[in-house]
Amino acid sequence: MKKILLILSAGILMLSSCCKTVPASVPACIKDGKIVLETPDRAPGQQSALALACEPIDVVKVAFVGIGGRGTGAVERYTHIDGVEIVALCDERAERVEDCQSILSEAGLPAAKGYVGAEAFKEMCENEDIDLVYIATDWLDHVRIALCAMENGHHAAIEVPSAMTVKDCWDLVDACERTRRHCTILENCCYDFFEMSTLNMAQQGLFGEVYHVEGAYIHYLAEDWDHSEVWRLDYNMANRGDNYPTHGLGPICQVMNIHRGDKMDYLVAMDTPSYNGRKAAKQLRGKDECLDGDHTISLIQTAKDHLIEVQHNVYCPRPYSRMHQLFGDGGYAGKYPIEQISVKSMHGHEALSEEEMNDLLQQYKPDFVKEIEEKARQVGGHGGMDYIMDYRLIYCLHNGLPLDEDVYDCAEWSAVQELSRISLENGSMPVEFPDFTRGEWNRIQGFSYAFAK
Ligand SMILES: NC(=O)c1ccc[n+]([C@@H]2O[C@H](COP(=O)([O-])OP(=O)(O)OC[C@H]3O[C@@H](n4cnc5c(N)ncnc54)[C@H](O)[C@@H]3O)[C@@H](O)[C@H]2O)c1
Repeated sequence: MKKILLILSAGILMLSSCCKTVPASVPACIKDGKIVLETPDRAPGQQSALALACEPIDVVKVAFVGIGGRGTGAVERYTHIDGVEIVALCDERAERVEDCQSILSEAGLPAAKGYVGAEAFKEMCENEDIDLVYIATDWLDHVRIALCAMENGHHAAIEVPSAMTVKDCWDLVDACERTRRHCTILENCCYDFFEMSTLNMAQQGLFGEVYHVEGAYIHYLAEDWDHSEVWRLDYNMANRGDNYPTHGLGPICQVMNIHRGDKMDYLVAMDTPSYNGRKAAKQLRGKDECLDGDHTISLIQTAKDHLIEVQHNVYCPRPYSRMHQLFGDGGYAGKYPIEQISVKSMHGHEALSEEEMNDLLQQYKPDFVKEIEEKARQVGGHGGMDYIMDYRLIYCLHNGLPLDEDVYDCAEWSAVQELSRISLENGSMPVEFPDFTRGEWNRIQGFSYAFAK
């Protein structure tokens, strides 16, 4: 009897650890009830880029690649930033380069070197004297341009999401670690006023232990599919999953100190069928299918057993929302649909009055934000947050400081696209979250902005 039991339990053990492969951009298999993606070995001589600080740069020479809707706005904003020289402008389309040259001349700045064509960034990265390559192309070209920039000795700043596969995320991490060049994600939502004040409140313990956070990208884009970001509908038609996770995730991962004392452990995703996505596919592309469900929810468990929820919906005709909800044992903050803050020690579970909330938001606004707020609102870019993001990036480069968002943020926030797809395609099975720091997620304690001494 004992022998039979032994054989049975050995069989169960073998079954539970048995590995069934799963399609993914890196080798992946089902192991002990979870999908596990292989972590590539760190190449000999390559080192962690946590807290990476590079030589200070007096005047940051910037090259822009991809100057459509978003890139043109960035060029305009950079004309207002001190200690910057716009040295190159690159786009597939010549008229985009010309339009941005006009922005420079209207600002009284010298013309930049123009590069035209889908591969022109290579010549630009090889030949130009550049410090920073600012990448705002459509999603599929981000990574190859960033890799080319870093391999040629330039820092890379990439629009969102920075990468669309886990393999691409690893390529960015490895290039940054190998070349010792920064690779950052241009996640402007980390710099909105409510997000920055509530991050500070969470860090000062106003909400107690923050154990659950929610973020989202809920934005009715359907009316724009045929004239703005036309590539986005094509991507969504071909890809199931949260295709735009970083606006929601960035600010809440900073609150949760992801890879600064906690880490995302595993993810489970669910979605609805495609309704308005399919209608757009039919109407605008003559196709019957859209793989992206109208609403996608990903739930992430952290190493500390805290919860992160992120949602994606670009199809529902409803008001815009990034949710941004923080739940702690001592309070709550939520930005959408209306800004509310509750603090247990103030009025228990009641929301603070608008006046009390605004006082708190002002009191907890980081000092550097108070100093640049007026200019940020005047230059604009989503109400000023884009300017604050640009300001922080250039400030850190000027002073040789670690960037607010490092390559691991870039990889973690972007990886949710493929991880959610894998979970969805496997009946919402949990997918282990890759540890892009390769075991060093607990070395730094707490998210912080770096400042010059
Ligand atoms: N952070 C934000 O708030 C925000 C807002 C809008 C868009 N975005 C992101 O910005 C990026 C660009 O979006 P957009 O709305 O400006 O798109 P867009 O289509 O208006 O512009 C993309 C530009 O990139 C150019 N391009 C594409 N491949 C190229 C290549 N290989 N070399 C040179 N140029 C190339 C195109 O010609 C085009 O001008 C996307 O990643 C998007 O998700 C972010």
